[in-house]
Order: sequence, then C-alpha cells, then structure tokens
Amino acid sequence: MDIVSIIEKKKLKKTLTQKEIVYFADSAARGAIEKPQIAALLMAIRLNGMDRRETVWLTRAMAESGDMADLSAIKGIPVDKHSTGGVGDTTTLILAPLVAACGMPVAKMSGRGLGHTGGTLDKLESISGFQVELSMEAFIAQVQRIGLAVIGQTRNLAPADKVFYAIRDVTSTVDSLPLIASSIMSKKLASGAKAIVLDVKTGSGAIMHTLADSITLAQTMVRIGVDAGRRVTALVTDMGEPLGSHVGNALEVKEAIDVLAGRVTGPLLTVSLALGGQMLLTAGATASAREAEAKLTDALVSGRGLEKLRQMITAQHGDPRVCDDVTLLPQAGVIMDVAAPEDGYIHSMETTRLGNLAQRMGAGRLEESDVIDPGVGFVLHRRVGDAVRRGEPLATLHCRSRADAETAAKGIREAVHIGGEPAKPVKLIRALVTADRVRRY
Ligand code: URA
Ligand code: CA
Repeated sequence: MDIVSIIEKKKLKKTLTQKEIVYFADSAARGAIEKPQIAALLMAIRLNGMDRRETVWLTRAMAESGDMADLSAIKGIPVDKHSTGGVGDTTTLILAPLVAACGMPVAKMSGRGLGHTGGTLDKLESISGFQVELSMEAFIAQVQRIGLAVIGQTRNLAPADKVFYAIRDVTSTVDSLPLIASSIMSKKLASGAKAIVLDVKTGSGAIMHTLADSITLAQTMVRIGVDAGRRVTALVTDMGEPLGSHVGNALEVKEAIDVLAGRVTGPLLTVSLALGGQMLLTAGATASAREAEAKLTDALVSGRGLEKLRQMITAQHGDPRVCDDVTLLPQAGVIMDVAAPEDGYIHSMETTRLGNLAQRMGAGRLEESDVIDPGVGFVLHRRVGDAVRRGEPLATLHCRSRADAETAAKGIREAVHIGGEPAKPVKLIRALVTADRVRRY
C-alpha cells in the first residue's frame, strides 16, 4: 500500500477500497505518513467526494484508530447527544440533567469551542473547580452512581480525527460532507453510546448554511450510526440566530441554570426539550415524542433537573452553590449596553460573525494555546422578528475593558440587521431525520 497512489486515485475521482481507507486513517493516526500527503488526500476528498460506502469505511477506520469505549457496565441504554456546533447553544447543560432525571443514563463526551462555535467543556470549566478530565473508570462509575457525566474526550479517542481536524482547520477542508460526517460519527462510535441524537444546525451560524445540505448531512450521519448498530436520530435545528440570548461561557451556564430553575423559557428550552425528547424516544424510554417532552417538563418543573445538575457539578469537583446563586460565576469587569441605531424590526443576524465576536472578546481561542476568559460575552435583548426602537438596548456586553466594549458594540451593530418592514421569527425545528425517513416541519 502506498499513500501517493491512494492520493492519485482520489485525485482522479476514483472510489477508494476499504483497505486503502484503513491504511490512510491508521497511518495518519500513527504519524507514519507526511502531513502534506494527508492534506492532499483531504483536499482530494473535499473536491471529489466519497460515496456512502467509502464514508462508512472512513468513519469506522477513524473510530478504530484509537480506543473504543465499552459502556456495557452501565445499566440501561447510555444515550448521547451531539451538535454540529452553534452560537449561544447550551442545550447540553439543560437536556443532559433533564434526561438523566427521567432515569436514562447520560454518558456524554463533549468538545471545546471550535472557531466561532462554543464548546460545552469550556462552559463547564467556568464553574470553579469543575473537572472535565475523568478516567474511563471514573466516568462509568459516575454514570452508574448518579446517571450523568459530561467529560472531555479521552486522550486516545479517534486519534485519526485529531490529526485530520488540525490539518482541515488550516487547509480550507472543513466544509466537506464526508469529512464532517466521519469526524463527528467516528468520535460518537468510539465513545460507546448505544443511542445517539444528533443536532444538525442549519443557517448563518451553522457549518451547513442551506436546509438541503443540512438534511443530507443528517441522513449521512444517521446511516453511518445505524450501519454500526447504534440507534440514531437527528433533528435539524435553526442557527440563523444564536439559540439562547446569552453568548459566552459563564453567561451560558447562567442561562442554563435560569432555564432549569424555571426562571427562563423560550427557544433554548424549546430546542432542549425537543432534543431531550428524541433522546428518551431513541433510547426506548417512551413511546412518543409528546410523552417524552411531558416527562422532561415534569423533571424541570419539579426541580429534579436542577438537582441532577447540582449532583453532577458536585461529583466533578465544581462549586454546586452556583445552582442557587448564579452571581458566584465569573463576571467581566466592564458591562455596557449597545443601543439600537434605528427604529424597526430585527430582520436577520450574521450568527457566525456574532460567534467570532465572542471568540475575539476572549470567550474562545484564536490559537490553541489561548486561555479563555470565562466572564466575557454578550446578552442579546432582541430576536429575529422583534420590534426595536432607536436607543433601546439591543445587547449588553460583558468585556475586559472599555476599549474592548467599544469594538464589540460596533461588531453587534454590524451583525444585527434592522429593517423597516415587519419580519418573521425563525422556525426552530426544521426536520426530523431517522434511518428510514425525513420529516420536514
Ligand atoms: N465538528 C466536528 O467534530 N468535526 C467536524 O468536522 C465538524 C464539526
Ligand atoms: Ca458551525
């Protein structure tokens, strides 16, 4: 087997064999092929695509390039959820405790912020003391004991993906359907969950901007999982504006606690209940999505969801008092409102731009070694479709300095588009994708 002839084949739009794909993923994970060769094959895949079988082989080869977690010691069907990445998208911190409070074990491996999107691990680390690195044994033991754990990916989880992703990030090869599907699903297969719910985002802040491309990505990932013997469902949800009103790590934890405490409702709760409902349904805990959402709502209203979050924070060495007093979360030094520049209605938001703004304010990393500032970010006071009057606060900024706040205010005004005509609010849930069908809403 030699890598140059494999690159040559894909360059000429030919189909690769399973042996060739396994050789590629394994050699990349072991450091046995050169980075320019990996980059060349990734670009050939980006330009010439992969068929369904090639994509499944690539996913499995990437999963099997490292450790495959064995969660069979956990009673019941461990269920996981994964989002393709969003802005102000804190559903995990809401639905994971709610699903666990309904008696389904939630064993979740999460990621860090990537580009303009936030990451659950970075959010959890804004809680003083919270540990995201647990051994596999401790992870399983915690799920057995309290039914819930959210941790970082273990070191040897899909190492081929780590190598590919670092190269894709700097070679303009992130936006490839087979590469995105294999990247996400290799990690899900390796992390051991038996039931998986995918949240595939669509719109201006998503990896796939059109509904058609988002549905195709969802179908591809569902098929990969089902072929590998897992139960998988996907919801395609809107990312044409940030999902919650809070963007930034501690701010998003605060919003999640506010939701679990019953103080806040709205799109973030709606989408969390829809995804959580699919988790219960996919794992076989309920017969219908409606019944599942009723169970989750009961867990929320009774306070059992917030109690479950408190148990998880305690188990992972964080300060559980934040559940009762959100002012214990880190806060930024400068807090300033951004006024609407004109009267009108919110027509659209450039969500990727808003995510990049939060990242540059210090909520994300521009380089791998950057240290996140947990307190910074912003709170949006209007959604698409809302009316606004000139001078009313459009957003509240949480910044490190006055100078940062001036720059961020400009960024908010540029990314939020106001028009004179009334505008419609976005539709949150766009499609449900299962192994055998697509239902559009
Ligand atoms: N998230 C991933 O983990 N991989 C991708 O390729 C895109 C989003
Ligand atoms: Ca994205």
